[in-house]
Amino acid sequence: MTTDIGLGHPQAQSVRSDEDVVRVRQLVRSVAVAVKLSLVDQTKVVTAASELARNTLVYGGGGTVEVTTVDSGRRKGLRIVFADSGPGIADLDLALTDGYTTGGGLGLGLSGSRRLVDEFEIETSAETGTRITVTKWAR
Ligand SMILES: Nc1ncnc2c1ncn2[C@@H]1O[C@H](COP(=O)(O)OP(=O)(O)OP(=O)(O)O)[C@@H](O)[C@H]1O
Ligand SMILES: [Mg+2]
Repeated sequence: MTTDIGLGHPQAQSVRSDEDVVRVRQLVRSVAVAVKLSLVDQTKVVTAASELARNTLVYGGGGTVEVTTVDSGRRKGLRIVFADSGPGIADLDLALTDGYTTGGGLGLGLSGSRRLVDEFEIETSAETGTRITVTKWAR
């Protein structure tokens, strides 16, 4: 975080439906192209965003996604914040374990997303909900 010199102006998308998750994918793809991520890295960050936005919808009861460009002076990248006011994640270590699900999914969304990005932070509580920030840098 301390390396950020430039922060772009955020583009926001609310997440209330499956169509909104598709819009998140499109927004993330377009910003990833704009900051010149490779095709492979574009796909990685779009996949991560899709999983996290789906969690925002399913477990968080909906929320918002904000996409911002970042510039370290050396590299450009994008940062995405997924925020909801849902119940929070009770056991974060468990939730980040491959295969753990409370919703009958594959339990790979959080753990897989973490592996697909360069930086991954979660703030979660029952009072404030869940806020996940991910960053992907162009190489
Ligand atoms: N935004 C959120 N708010 C509350 N709980 C969440 C949130 N995101 C994830 N969780 C919890 O963490 C668990 C693991 O999430 P993860 O995305 O890894 O798996 P999943 O959504 O259950 O399955 P998959 O994503 O593989 O279909 C979820 O089952 C849920 O209990
Ligand atoms: Mg999931």
